Amino acid sequence: MLIRPERPDDVDAIDRLTTVAFEPQPFSDGSEAPIVRALRASGDLTLSLVAEDDGGVVGHVAFSPVTIDGSHDGWFGLGPISVRLDLQRRGIGRAMVTEGLRRLRDQGARGCALIGDPEIYRRMGFTADGALTHLDLDPTAVQHVTFGGPSPRGELRFARAFDAAGH
Ligand SMILES: CC(C)(COP(=O)(O)OP(=O)(O)OC[C@H]1O[C@@H](n2cnc3c(N)ncnc32)[C@H](O)[C@@H]1OP(=O)(O)O)[C@@H](O)C(=O)NCCC(=O)NCCS
Repeated sequence: MLIRPERPDDVDAIDRLTTVAFEPQPFSDGSEAPIVRALRASGDLTLSLVAEDDGGVVGHVAFSPVTIDGSHDGWFGLGPISVRLDLQRRGIGRAMVTEGLRRLRDQGARGCALIGDPEIYRRMGFTADGALTHLDLDPTAVQHVTFGGPSPRGELRFARAFDAAGH
């Protein structure tokens, strides 16, 4: 399996993959594929990685700039992330996250934050200490990885592409 940056001819496959992967999720409002498209269109898709297997796209993860208390300061957000339904729980998500964090760190980022199930993301190195918040969400879902500096403190905000989904 190869983890690589998206190419223009991956766009439709990413769209379909994201739609299908989130469809069974009770928390999903179907906004994830449109968010990826909107990030791309607005220039906020800082890093978009696909997992390719047998010539097909089987996973995708997006990274985009975030602010903490209004300041970007080298922080990025992870998501949406999707793995093909029949290939979940086999390490593809972890491989994409590991590669994305490595690339962000190499580009000089200070850290990466996300909102998601702590059961999944603490296994990928993310933590929640309650100091990073997002609207009225349970702070245990607001997680981060730092690349050496201090832990983030304040209100996490995502790129404008997420606005339609209420993030
Ligand atoms: C979430 C998702 C991207 C994870 O990708 P994946 O390839 O299935 O995950 P991995 O196999 O790399 O698993 C990484 C770790 O998370 C754990 N994990 C993965 N999915 C999990 C789940 N639903 N519940 C609990 N733990 C989970 C794995 O057990 C593994 O930990 P371990 O190695 O200590 O056992 C994938 O399941 C997916 O596409 N889900 C649907 C879309 C979605 O919910 N996206 C995220 C929204 S926050």
